[in-house]
Amino acid sequence: PETITIQELANRMSERAVDVIRLLMKQGQIHKITDVIDSDSAQLIAEELGHTVRRVAESDVEEGLVSDEPDLEEDLDPRPPVVTIMGHVDHGKTSLLDAIRKTTVVSGEAGGITQHIGAYQVAAPSGDMVTFIDTPGHAAFTSMRARGAKVTDIVVLVVAADDGVMPQTVEAISHAKAAGVPLILAINKIDKPEANPQRVRTELLQHDIQVESMGGETLEFEVSAKTGDGLSDLLEGLQLQAEIMNLRANEQRDGEGTVIEAKLDRGRGPVATVLVQRGTLFTGDIVVAGAEWGRVRALIDDKGENVPYAGPSVPVEVLGFNGTPDAGDRVVVVPNEARAREVTEYRARQKRERIAARTGGANRSLVDMMR
Ligand code: GTP
Ligand code: MG
Repeated sequence: PETITIQELANRMSERAVDVIRLLMKQGQIHKITDVIDSDSAQLIAEELGHTVRRVAESDVEEGLVSDEPDLEEDLDPRPPVVTIMGHVDHGKTSLLDAIRKTTVVSGEAGGITQHIGAYQVAAPSGDMVTFIDTPGHAAFTSMRARGAKVTDIVVLVVAADDGVMPQTVEAISHAKAAGVPLILAINKIDKPEANPQRVRTELLQHDIQVESMGGETLEFEVSAKTGDGLSDLLEGLQLQAEIMNLRANEQRDGEGTVIEAKLDRGRGPVATVLVQRGTLFTGDIVVAGAEWGRVRALIDDKGENVPYAGPSVPVEVLGFNGTPDAGDRVVVVPNEARAREVTEYRARQKRERIAARTGGANRSLVDMMR
């Protein structure tokens, strides 16, 4: 059943919580400000205080947005693993990814520091694809996780052999653990004379990471982004891990995914980098992401080329949103513009009301009852 705390109810009415408590007491109910009451009691209180109540069930608007129907076994096809590269600043995440892609992202970045999340697909030696997500530090990952977005299947922890375990290494380990995804160790910069990979392995023991060569289960690879040593082994290791995980998705349904990053581009308007996770996203689709919607005008792949569609585990830039969605927003296809408007207007209103409630300026005449 829907419930609300007394504090929240008071906020939404711009009333004092003590007055709500007093009214409840008159009805023989003793409550603290943090107590939760059901929506029926809340409605009575609100009306008694002279407010108009509109009950909005989230499910009414959001229902059916994404089909809950499980995919049939025969509709599932293998999909590429989505791999997030994490590690301490300057340990070589971008260089590693870059070496894997054999392009030059690092030299194009301001000061060699990652400015945005890049998402790319490369072919492993077997020919199978692997999707990589590079992170600009872990804040983006944290906020996405906090919002319930699950994008990664595997974390590659990059530790520089000349520097060892550092604060953000530890942070990355806890991210991987909290997300419940396997972690693969890449000990980078082994080309350096002062490299000490054994020290890295030993230091990781203190953080519950036991690598294979020390009798543990964590896959480990010594690599150099500079010389390219060990990179194909790393890719093979990722492939192997992915096979064990048996990652599959149904391509034959409406596209669904997550916004990895989004920005307002001067020339192109809102641009959202979306990781498709289920189904297939087509140009012309009408999509909703958070409180924004749009008709997909173009899909641009990681090589900068226009593509007509994108399937599971494929990262694409999506053009055509009417506003800029947030990283972590879930992207879904809706049947028509009217539906898109309905859902996003509802969400936008909710967002406004949440903010208003927080700042104490709730609408006096309207109290929405939700959860
Ligand atoms: P942030 O995105 O800022 O967190 O850094 P990053 O982890 O992406 O590191 P980046 O790839 O920018 O590399 C940092 C520095 O280390 C650069 O100067 C690279 O040239 C250097 N570097 C990266 N990998 C290697 C390597 O394998 N060997 C050597 N010798 N240098 C490397
Ligand atoms: Mg980087």
